[in-house]
Amino acid sequence: MKLQVVFSPAALTAADVQGRTIFVIDILRATTTMCAALHHGARAIIPVASTEEALRLAQTIGSADVLLAGEKDCVRIPGFQLGNSPLEMTESAVRGKTLVVTTTNGTKALLATQGAAAVYAAAAANLTLAAERAREALERDGEVLIICAGRDGAFSLDDAYCAGRLVAATLGSRKPRRDFNDAAIASLDLVRRYGDRWERPLTYSRAGRELVRLGFRDDVLDAARLDAYPVLAHFHDRRVTLAHVTV
Ligand code: MLT
Repeated sequence: MKLQVVFSPAALTAADVQGRTIFVIDILRATTTMCAALHHGARAIIPVASTEEALRLAQTIGSADVLLAGEKDCVRIPGFQLGNSPLEMTESAVRGKTLVVTTTNGTKALLATQGAAAVYAAAAANLTLAAERAREALERDGEVLIICAGRDGAFSLDDAYCAGRLVAATLGSRKPRRDFNDAAIASLDLVRRYGDRWERPLTYSRAGRELVRLGFRDDVLDAARLDAYPVLAHFHDRRVTLAHVTV
């Protein structure tokens, strides 16, 4: 079984994603925010690559039920109704709405998965459901790929730790197999280092420190809440929606 992690989508090729089941992590904050929005009743989230594209798409759809959301340099984009904060995604703000979202790293990582068999957005907020889906895919297909959005094309501690938690939860009590890539092994080492205290790697990371400095400490703490927004966030047909969960 092949369980692979990449610390940034920068080096991914089309062959890496083709036909795979993929989990994209941008715990601070895009994938956490997406889980919060879906959990609170958003109909769909459409990730796009730029502010201009978000404005264009919202205009093309031309509905009052479409909201623009996202950030540049961590703060809400001027003219957008929402930023990239899970705490903004309240039921009264998002129920029944479609969100067109653009963020610095998270939305780009999702958009880098073209050609995959299935793509899910993952974070601490939906870790247990994501791990269940990853386990199913691993047993069915023998392979799963976890993509960390990272930061500016490079490693980020917050996403790498979350990837390690996803790998560990996917394995459960099973013994690690040999065909992990080195990034998967390193992400498990981070879990050994920080244990189950999400807030430590999140607040130590560069992204976390930057968010705290900008006044988003509560967002970082919210992103550290395990299974806070338990939704299976499925990226399919250019939008993120609730995946069907069989019980
Ligand atoms: C990103 O996509 O780079 C992050 O979600 C940025 C942020 O936390 O605002």
